[in-house]
Amino acid sequence: MDKKKIFVTHVFLDKYLKELKEKYEVVVWQNKDIGREDLLRSVKGVSGIISLLTEKIDAEVMEAAGPTLKVISNYAVGFDNIDVAEATKRGICVTNTPGVLTEAVAEEVIALTLALFRRIVEGDRFVRAGKYRGWEPDLLLGTGVKDKVMGIVGLGRIGRWTARMAGALGMKIIYFNRHRDEEFEEEYSVVYHTLDQLLELADVVSLSVPLTEETKHMIGERELKLMKPTALLINTSRGPIVDQVSLIAALRERWIAGAGLDVFEDESKIPSALYELPNTVLTPHTASATVEARIAMARIVTDSMNDTLEGRQPKCLVNIDVWKENDKN
Ligand code: GLV
Ligand code: GLV
Repeated sequence: MDKKKIFVTHVFLDKYLKELKEKYEVVVWQNKDIGREDLLRSVKGVSGIISLLTEKIDAEVMEAAGPTLKVISNYAVGFDNIDVAEATKRGICVTNTPGVLTEAVAEEVIALTLALFRRIVEGDRFVRAGKYRGWEPDLLLGTGVKDKVMGIVGLGRIGRWTARMAGALGMKIIYFNRHRDEEFEEEYSVVYHTLDQLLELADVVSLSVPLTEETKHMIGERELKLMKPTALLINTSRGPIVDQVSLIAALRERWIAGAGLDVFEDESKIPSALYELPNTVLTPHTASATVEARIAMARIVTDSMNDTLEGRQPKCLVNIDVWKENDKN
């Protein structure tokens, strides 16, 4: 019997590729970013696609793959790049990598918070520029985090771990989420607020919601104006959750004190205004970029491929409905 085909849109950890190659005919895109035309051409007749969050996997890609396509295994926890409803309609499983990058992303939230409040990046630039001449009592005074209010928007795994770490730093924790979790509130002394209340109360607003129609531009001019002028905005989720034009105005005109950004509205085109602002710390979508997280993500992606193509329900299935439908048939 011919081996099933898998297309991998980006070079992938060797160990896992080897595993996949034992069972499948695996084609890996070797260049940097795969363009749309190459993607459409490469998926023809495959049973599985391993995709990155930068690739739009929509009806056109599924159509190009054809009826052999059974699984799209996304190398990310976020899956806003995939048209999940369309995949479900076509009986295609969509999987992601939850759970294993939780700590990494929450650590980035804390790192950006401390970098801004304690002026770490500014201090580093200062020293490198040869400006440091000796200790001064009022040099680069920052803000301490103890007793400051961490406002978490989205109490998923990442939001919860952020709450626990911020609590360990002596911060007070408030959160907004579609659903309240009274058990978590009790256990970690976390207080629920509406989004508007949270924005008014928090010294740090950290976004940990997925990108959906509902969360797109959830933070715009009105919301930024509700925040304290001394507050920070931290975004490690998806760029389009924040209206970037309003954010730039907010940082320029000091409606808020600063922003720690790991994600941007269009990651191929970051506006130079963000580079020029002194009150931003910018990282290149590396919140989950720890060796530990990436290895664990690759393990899940590989297992999802194997499980689906061998008829077992993959553990990190996003569209559970598709499995129920398949079961009936
Ligand atoms: C990274 O942004 C991810 O969604 O895994
Ligand atoms: C990510 O896995 C989250 O639920 O926050």
